[in-house]
Amino acid sequence: TIDQKVSELLSKMTLEEKVGQLVQYSGFEYATGPQNSNSANVLNEIKQGKVGSMLNVAGAGETRKFQELALQSRLRIPLLFGQDVIHGYRTTFPVNLGQAASWDLGLIEKSERIAATEASAYGIHWTFAPMVDVARDPRWGRVMEGSGEDTYLGTQIGLARIRGFQGKGLGNLDAIMACAKHFAAYGAAVGGRDYNSVDMSLRQLNETYLPPFKAAAEAGVATFMNSFNDINGIPATANKYILRDLLKGKWNFKGFVVSDWGSIGEMVPHGYAKDNKEAAEKAILAGSDMDMESRAYMAELPKLVQEGKVDPKFIDDAARRILVKKFEMGLFDDPYRFSNEKRQKEQTNNQENRKFGREFGSKSIVLLKNEKNILPLSRSTKTIALIGPFGKETSANHGFWSVAFKDDSQRIVTQFDGIKNQLDKNSTLLYAKGANVDDQDGSMFAEAVETAKKADVVIMTLGEGHAMSGEAKSRSNIHFSGVQEELLKEVAKTGKPIVLMINAGRPLVFDWAADNIPAIMYTWWLGTEAGNSIADVLFGTVNPGGKLPMTFPRTEGQIPVYYNHYNTGRPAKNNTDRNYVSAYIDLDNDPKFPFGYGLSYTQFKYADMNLSSLNLKGNQTLKIGINITNSGNYDGEEVVQLYIRDLFGKVVRPVKELKGFQKVFIKKGETKTVSFTLTPEDLKFYDDELNFDWEGGEFDIMVGTNSQDVQTKRINWLK
Ligand code: IFM
Repeated sequence: TIDQKVSELLSKMTLEEKVGQLVQYSGFEYATGPQNSNSANVLNEIKQGKVGSMLNVAGAGETRKFQELALQSRLRIPLLFGQDVIHGYRTTFPVNLGQAASWDLGLIEKSERIAATEASAYGIHWTFAPMVDVARDPRWGRVMEGSGEDTYLGTQIGLARIRGFQGKGLGNLDAIMACAKHFAAYGAAVGGRDYNSVDMSLRQLNETYLPPFKAAAEAGVATFMNSFNDINGIPATANKYILRDLLKGKWNFKGFVVSDWGSIGEMVPHGYAKDNKEAAEKAILAGSDMDMESRAYMAELPKLVQEGKVDPKFIDDAARRILVKKFEMGLFDDPYRFSNEKRQKEQTNNQENRKFGREFGSKSIVLLKNEKNILPLSRSTKTIALIGPFGKETSANHGFWSVAFKDDSQRIVTQFDGIKNQLDKNSTLLYAKGANVDDQDGSMFAEAVETAKKADVVIMTLGEGHAMSGEAKSRSNIHFSGVQEELLKEVAKTGKPIVLMINAGRPLVFDWAADNIPAIMYTWWLGTEAGNSIADVLFGTVNPGGKLPMTFPRTEGQIPVYYNHYNTGRPAKNNTDRNYVSAYIDLDNDPKFPFGYGLSYTQFKYADMNLSSLNLKGNQTLKIGINITNSGNYDGEEVVQLYIRDLFGKVVRPVKELKGFQKVFIKKGETKTVSFTLTPEDLKFYDDELNFDWEGGEFDIMVGTNSQDVQTKRINWLK
């Protein structure tokens, strides 16, 4: 068995060689964290068996070169190659928050299957994804990499991604190891500022932030990654409670934990370790197995063992976990099996993958507004003007974290090209940039206004630039950057009908546009095929069906704003109720667009829901059925959402909790029945002593098209 093989290997290894397996360095071509130089030394260390893994080394040829060095070491232990395969690889897909807006688990899983196939053909064994951090603060730049604010939706999506990456199981040539990150609560950084502290009750941690991780562990995710933040005063990287008690204890996780870039050494500035040595000691004892770029384990662990401060069993356990994965990946049989030029070539600019990317892009778009059915546009519209900084640019479409794409920008389908390709021959597409994303003056406005005047319809393409959402890209102001809103206002003065496309990695604030522009599509950053996906929706080849995976605030002052909040003792009745209630005196309570919101070119009518019973007892099952009719003029997809509210509890419960959703395709004129079931398992929550159970009593069952527009029935469910 693999376990026996690992035991045998461990018995031959020196302490230094074991620690070597716990070391991960970055390649030198590019970095995804603060760079350490000293490359010559890294190459020597690999030859001496002092390195277990490299990140940011990619490509069949490049990985082969590094593997050759590792095979010069005494025990010929191969390296693991990890990389951030986040939203596609050679073919990039919508940024993850955009993908989540599809609410389509099948598409999400397939996109990761493709990403894994492409990445593994480039010699990659391991992706640092999925990021399953629940995030309720759109100022946090990394919301683009997750699935939004909801624990249930985020869990389902995280599982779909893991299925996609790991495919039929480690050892298959197109399967790469997944990594549930960032463990834990990274998304709850105070103020939405990246790397900031997290301070929350253990109840909240367990109920809202940990379930996607627990589910990932249970589903067999190969690895976990620490988060940078401290949790209630203890950095996650040395947090015994989450790593030893939960992950490796209660959840029985058998894979390994990699630190985040430098997160072991960063416990010094955190104020949790006085130097790298103490940091290494605390991290290994807590259960962090691999050191990504802190360079603390190799320097300190052998000494710590010799001094009796670290029991060697901790080193053995960490090395064992890593070696098991190397065996499972088949690297001891053939260390070069993933470094295959032929496969790499087949996966470069693969048309089938691009075709999928086009479909996925269009299904991630969320239609926020469509007054007077301006959309879809006719292909024979005589003159269309495309105005805005995103019309012809490419980097934003890739989005942050497109690490394998740096030299391929010419392969991106721009919005201009996508639209132009679908317009009738006799129609004209005009273009004016109007502003750069970060312009502070309106020097390019005049040309844009003149261009708009010549058009029958204006498509404005605004948002935030590629480097404005992502790691270390927190923003305190999440409006369109620069003078884009002013540009929009100037163009709007022409009186031309405007369709606004918003390009962003996070929810932006665009209150004026939302109130004044008749048609708005949220197009995120859609990847390689962005222009085609967008044109497919603009011209109605695809009827948009995306729904927001995060609440969109009215202004930054409303943040954090999320749908599943508690009721408080003084809830406001409505937006105008401000008298000694939980409200702002200068701002409505409800968001600009609620969680789960999104329109279609058609209309869906919900009939009254049917419940199998209004009074249940014990382990019964509640069946919920609802007929939905497509009463409009287009075939379309609807995401039907099921929420519950537990009315009274030992601890207060949210006003709504998503418990199920289904995406259904309904032809125009047709009716479909959508069914859900609930069992007591769905009613469980963590009480103040962290018991996970349900309580009998009254519950509201809600079904609707978004988290605000629901129909409700009350039931009694006794224990
Ligand atoms: O995987 C990432 C992580 O999410 C943030 N810091 C760097 C890592 C490796 O690139």
